[in-house]
Amino acid sequence: MSMGKVRKAVIPAAGLGTRFLPATKAMPKEMLPVVDMPAIQYVVEEAVHAGLTDLLMITGRNKRSLEDHFDRTPALERALEEKGDRTRLEAVKHSSELGPIHYVRQGEAKGLGHAVLCARQHVGEEPFAVLLGDDLIDEHDGLLTTMMEVQAKTGGSVIALIEVDPSQISAYGCADVSVVEGEDYVRVNSLVEKPSVDEAPSNLAVIGRYVLHPAVFGVLEKTGPGRGGEIQLTDALQTLATDGEGGGVYGVVFKGRRFDTGDKLSYLKAVITLASERVEFGEELRAWMKAFVN
Ligand code: G1P
Repeated sequence: MSMGKVRKAVIPAAGLGTRFLPATKAMPKEMLPVVDMPAIQYVVEEAVHAGLTDLLMITGRNKRSLEDHFDRTPALERALEEKGDRTRLEAVKHSSELGPIHYVRQGEAKGLGHAVLCARQHVGEEPFAVLLGDDLIDEHDGLLTTMMEVQAKTGGSVIALIEVDPSQISAYGCADVSVVEGEDYVRVNSLVEKPSVDEAPSNLAVIGRYVLHPAVFGVLEKTGPGRGGEIQLTDALQTLATDGEGGGVYGVVFKGRRFDTGDKLSYLKAVITLASERVEFGEELRAWMKAFVN
């Protein structure tokens, strides 16, 4: 049964960013620029674009610049106004008008499942979205909107899946699914976090967008440490999928554009792709890249 419209988005951003050290020694990985916008802003914009009006970021120590980024900066705004720099003024103002954004600290980095559990009090008893900062999804592909529609229809929890080369599956949560007759979503029978190639039930990988039934909180509370000694969201979803609590779990197989900014090479590809599409310098960049490769 549906529980009403999804309004709240939870954005976990408490990770330590060890893969990008030393760049992330004194700066959150979510603030790494993708062209001229921090990675986290793409994710916040995607949530807002999908109609989510209440955003909660799960942060931690050394993450203050995230709050500063989405806050007003009167002195900077005045300086740009005096210079008559409308374009930058609008860009600066825009990043503070995406809210309201709420913040809660995770305290200890005990895993994604634990980070989501920190949202319990704020979310309450309604379905909610979770967006992971490492995944940049082209908002024009409407993935979140589709997932919210599936949530409303099924009343359960909805995950996003992509097909990956079997050799890559051990970097992701992996789902065993079955077709739902006449529907464009699938039923998730079981989930396993980062399986080895031989253990993987499929080549369907979980990516960082979820629309969850609030029953996940009660399950997370009872979920012990899993892969890597961390409390895994995948393990809680596995419980919901197998015992059917909270309406079960469904999946949307995503065919659109996604960049993983959590990995150095994929991050560079994201920056180059998005930069090469920019009107101001895309053409010049593409010409330069051709010459550079030759
Ligand atoms: C997390 C999830 C994993 C999922 C991945 C998507 O892993 O635990 O199931 O496939 O995000 O990006 P992480 O990449 O944080 O290790």
